[in-house]
Amino acid sequence: MEFSELLRVRRSVRRYQSTPLGEEQIAQVLAAVRTAPTAGNFQAYEIYVVRGPERMKALAAASFNHGWIAEAPAALVICTNAARCQYDNPGYWALQDASIAATLAHLAATNLGLASCWVGAFVPEKLAEVIAVEPGHVPMAILTLGLANEAPPESPRREVSEFAHPRE
Ligand SMILES: Cc1cc2nc3c(=O)[nH]c(=O)nc-3n(C[C@H](O)[C@H](O)[C@H](O)COP(=O)(O)O)c2cc1C
Repeated sequence: MEFSELLRVRRSVRRYQSTPLGEEQIAQVLAAVRTAPTAGNFQAYEIYVVRGPERMKALAAASFNHGWIAEAPAALVICTNAARCQYDNPGYWALQDASIAATLAHLAATNLGLASCWVGAFVPEKLAEVIAVEPGHVPMAILTLGLANEAPPESPRREVSEFAHPRE
């Protein structure tokens, strides 16, 4: 898909068909994540691939009022892994690395015709338990993945002139 088209059609989708995702689709999303730029190229992120109705229900239960997460056939949980970063203040860099990883996954999913939604509202301890998180991995976001069962309208945005601050 043309990049401008990708940006135009991307949405946060919160209704999913029950159709399962193929291995290849998830592999392609993860392959896109792998290309992410990261601070010092330390790649201070980890991705947990969550699938199966029971685990998806548990994922929904770990989030705040996001029962719809259980509708999705799969989700990624994007975590920071600050121990990978050799700079001072590694948590600061790891959060940026993980944010870029999640953004690329969201865009890659869109490019594959998949729907997704970035979810940041979760109970960290509950989520950690659901994904049996490894020591040092800190969940930053859930990214649901699946086929859309809704077509959300475009959300409003500020004009460029409202957030761009020219300094010449
Ligand atoms: C950091 C971040 C956290 C978000 N957390 C949630 C969330 O917890 N629940 C949710 O339904 N959507 C969440 N979203 C999706 C936003 O609500 C959505 O991106 C925004 O409303 C704009 O809509 P659009 O993505 O369809 O353009 C989050 C998005 C980002 C980037």
